Amino acid sequence: MASLPEPALPDAPLTTPKPAARIKRFTVTERVLHWMHASAFLALLATGMILYLPALSTLISRRQLVRGVHLWVALAWAVALLVILVVGNRTRLAEDWREIETIDRDDRRWLRGRKAPQGRFNAGQKINALLTIAFALLFALSGFFLWLGERDHRFIFAGTGTVHDALTFVSIGLLVGHLYLALIHPSTRHALRGMTTGEVDEAWAQTHHAKWVEAERTSSLS
Ligand code: HEM
Repeated sequence: MASLPEPALPDAPLTTPKPAARIKRFTVTERVLHWMHASAFLALLATGMILYLPALSTLISRRQLVRGVHLWVALAWAVALLVILVVGNRTRLAEDWREIETIDRDDRRWLRGRKAPQGRFNAGQKINALLTIAFALLFALSGFFLWLGERDHRFIFAGTGTVHDALTFVSIGLLVGHLYLALIHPSTRHALRGMTTGEVDEAWAQTHHAKWVEAERTSSLS
């Protein structure tokens, strides 16, 4: 019996596909600052919740130890922040601050749900960053007065504990949204690459942060 002709195999590709072009998004200073703040925040949240929630306090009975960890982590956070501000790339941090505090016309349109090109941080990220900075300062201030008030009763002010607790609950809401966008949402989770390796795909950056990519191209030409 005559055998059937073999189906033609597709030709092997002559060239290997080009790796995606990458663009630098975060410097070492920015990444160290982010991960330092994130780990301190999570440690403070975990220990703070054990102290705050009666069910957890009963489960983990070593209250004094947990309190000690909470206070030492807060102190370590403040020292680490100062070290980063002194030895880190301050020029870049100042640029970050300028970008974050500027809410332009495109940002306002984006916040109203319209399509508008975004810079290195979109308007939502700018608001998240501004709230994170404000909350960090308020956490530190209210926490300091809670600590001082226990030692010297003249420094007990009504509402200090309420401010500290309210900040915690609003921060949890922000964190849940932040983690969803950074780890789960298909169109934004690529950002994690930027916060770990420092670089992101240029095509992704062009889609999400067109004004930033344009500015980078212009500055590399000049
Ligand atoms: C531990 C889990 C966390 C992950 C996986 C994570 C991930 C990320 C990523 C991927 C970015 C970069 C987004 C971009 O490309 O612009 C980012 C930015 C940022 N993160 Fe986090 N983060 C975490 C925890 C935190 C915590 C606990 C805070 C503050 C309490 C925080 C505050 C910020 C801020 C302010 C920014 C810049 C603005 C923004 O992108 O919203 N992050 N994070």
